Amino acid sequence: MDSFIVKGPCRLKGRVKISGSKNSSLPIIFASLLTDEKCEISNVPQLADINSAAAILSYCGKKCSFFSGKFSCAEEGEIKTEAPYDMVRKMRASVLIAGPMLARFGRVKFALPGGCAIGVRPIDIHLDAFSKMGASVSFEGGNVIIKASSLKPARINFKFPSVGATENVMMAAALTKGETVIYNAAREPEISDLAEALIKMGADIKGAGEEIIRIRGASKLKGFSHEVICDRIEAGTFIIAACALKSEIELYGVRKEHLGSLWRKLILSGAELFSEKEKVFVSAPQKIKPVNISTGPYPLFPTDLQAQWMAYMSLAEGKSRISENIFENRFMHAAELMRMGAKIEVKGKDAFVNGPASLSGAPVMASDLRAGAALVIGAMAAKGQSLVKRVYHIDRGYEKIEEKLFSLGADIKRIKE
Ligand code: EPZ
Repeated sequence: MDSFIVKGPCRLKGRVKISGSKNSSLPIIFASLLTDEKCEISNVPQLADINSAAAILSYCGKKCSFFSGKFSCAEEGEIKTEAPYDMVRKMRASVLIAGPMLARFGRVKFALPGGCAIGVRPIDIHLDAFSKMGASVSFEGGNVIIKASSLKPARINFKFPSVGATENVMMAAALTKGETVIYNAAREPEISDLAEALIKMGADIKGAGEEIIRIRGASKLKGFSHEVICDRIEAGTFIIAACALKSEIELYGVRKEHLGSLWRKLILSGAELFSEKEKVFVSAPQKIKPVNISTGPYPLFPTDLQAQWMAYMSLAEGKSRISENIFENRFMHAAELMRMGAKIEVKGKDAFVNGPASLSGAPVMASDLRAGAALVIGAMAAKGQSLVKRVYHIDRGYEKIEEKLFSLGADIKRIKE
């Protein structure tokens, strides 16, 4: 397992290209299962999770190729409608094969994705929705088997605006005759991006990005070519890092409107930000002001930036509160930041950060991809050398992160174990 050796404190300077969105690429790659025609997706980041998605499509019978950001797949022959445990275990987003497989082939079998470090992560909202569309759901030997002679359109009210369930139902409905309506849909930019790709395939979708999405399915869907949006979480990670490191950097390939409430929170912390087309300029606060955050569905503060924000707030001049409302166990980075000297108290879904801490380098361990990113931020701000272990977590969600940080002036290098 690789690790990073990071020497701090360091300053960042220069410009960085933000990669395409992992969380937009994954559903759009799985949407290619809805058609037997060639699909081409560009601006796809070179990440472990994308390779996992390609492995699943190849296992099912698609011919995939992926190089220099271009993912393409075509179909020759029979498609297997299942994903085995060792593939689903590696990447929970594999559940997104369900919608396309059900709509096109009337059946799908995949291993129930276990929980992960950040929570139990059930898929009941997905399964309830498929039942409402007329599918039968059964469980056998750790697999879930879903069957439907033909899916029916339905009006589906989500108990929670689940991103994955919204994507799964949109894909299923895109190839289901009639109008399916999702109430309390997720509103993340990745939802709108998937809708754009499905519309190119021939589906009629209205309201993506809002609470109510109406999907009129087509009898057959075409191949498509699509460029995915930028990765707003990678962008937010670099912006928070620059603010934590008293730095000024320019990001390009990112849109301000995708950053949601992060923008306002950074301004409140004393940062200066401005954007121009697909560029964002950030200049760090002289003194970091403590700012409370409470994570929630888009456009509220993203849970995927909560850990990075905690690293930032450990350097602020005063107390802040961080409430995690999406996942039940997403504070594991707190203990690791405390090893560097951060002063944090976790009480249920709230973490109280008592800044400013003068961080010092230490050996720390990543527990999920965003926690790993937060530890890299802490390590770059800390005095001395840190060893960030289990970097494979970070590799799942950040393309060439150490190269990008190194080119901005960070003293970071990967050691292969
Ligand atoms: C997506 O996961 C993202 N992953 C996650 O990013 C992100 O943290 C999450 O959305 C929230 O924004 C991808 O897009 C591949 P959810 P997803 O369904 O779809 C509960 C990262 O760091 N829930 O919106 O799995 C669930 O337990 C990853 O890139 C149910 O109870 O998220 C969680 O508490 C981490 N039943 C909450 O909803 C269900 O059927 C949000 O889950 C589904 C979800």
